[in-house]
Amino acid sequence: MPRPIAVQISIPALQHNLEQIRRVLTQQTQLLQRPDPKVWAVIKANAYGHGIDQAVQGFAQADGLAMLDFNEAIRCRELGWQKPIMLLEGYFSAADLALMDHYQLTAVIHSPEQLQLLEKQASQLQHPLSVMAKLNTGMNRLGFAPEQFEAAYGRLLQLQQQGVVAQLGKMTHFARADDDPSITYQQLQCFNQYTQHLEGRISVCNSAGTLTASLQQHLPAQPEQWVRPGICLYGASPFAALSAHSLDLQPAQTLTAEIISVRDLAPHQGVGYGHSFISSEPMRLGVVACGYADGYPRHAATGTPIWVEGQATRLVGRVSMDMLMVDLTSVPQAKVGSTVVLWGQGGPSVDEVALAAGTIGYELLCAVAPRVPRNVLEK
Ligand SMILES: Cc1ncc(COP(=O)(O)O)c(C=O)c1O
Repeated sequence: MPRPIAVQISIPALQHNLEQIRRVLTQQTQLLQRPDPKVWAVIKANAYGHGIDQAVQGFAQADGLAMLDFNEAIRCRELGWQKPIMLLEGYFSAADLALMDHYQLTAVIHSPEQLQLLEKQASQLQHPLSVMAKLNTGMNRLGFAPEQFEAAYGRLLQLQQQGVVAQLGKMTHFARADDDPSITYQQLQCFNQYTQHLEGRISVCNSAGTLTASLQQHLPAQPEQWVRPGICLYGASPFAALSAHSLDLQPAQTLTAEIISVRDLAPHQGVGYGHSFISSEPMRLGVVACGYADGYPRHAATGTPIWVEGQATRLVGRVSMDMLMVDLTSVPQAKVGSTVVLWGQGGPSVDEVALAAGTIGYELLCAVAPRVPRNVLEK
């Protein structure tokens, strides 16, 4: 028998979240009388911990999938995904380029080295390669410097004329779309200044950008736009100040476990390693079969929300490798075998847990350990 812990992935929640993003986009673009942007569903890092197979199923209605791992991209093709697949870091070697060619993947080209490699390998390609050229507008992670961009794009246009490049477009990535629109507007201004005169589709918005209605009016009406939402598709919020629930997103990942032991505590008793929590009054304590080796954050503090038998209560003491302790004083019906929701449907949001642990929902969703049994809710 496995330990009583499981992670559930909800296909209907993935579907709902994609539909919700499309509804939001339609509201934004209707006002501006523009066509709806197309959607790359970002499924990197094993679809933010939800599984590539589940993402392909849940995001069947997306226009494309974006990721950075070649094995994940190949898995999508093996599952029958025929629409575009974009590799967000592009290729790292000539062998990768050959794989992109074989599986008809779209390459982000963000560096002079990648561009050179494409020029060198051009004669080896069997099919024209779709490319998104990336401009660094202030994230300072990947992308051509603004003053390099036009020349780099010119070389790609030349390759397009030679039939080496198929569709060509321009992209950038926001550093602070979740917390500081003024920085995002500066990035957009830079993007428009250095790309507006160059033909080709555009892609700039992550989840926070996609959900910020006012951004659309700062983008050109033409050409075709593709957004790149990730975290919101999994039912977590990209914004610290806005809950996923308020954005009408549904959690697609739910981590549950059971209570495996219950005890009564007298006042002044220490709990767990380091006795970081000391009871101040009589209380009832439950031990839950979930610890940091399952992916629950060790830095979650006493008070982190946890739901037991459908009721909100709190974590107490330090999280151990395989167990954590929960306050059952306000849940008298709880007993060994009671269901505990660590995050997700019927429990706290992953964002609430992340906040209490000094991290972000992204990290928790990606970090559920392989030892945790998985099940998939199909309907
Ligand atoms: C280039 C790029 N686009 C889009 C995304 C999706 O971001 P988010 O999950 O915040 O929507 C990411 C994720 O980090 C990314 O690196």
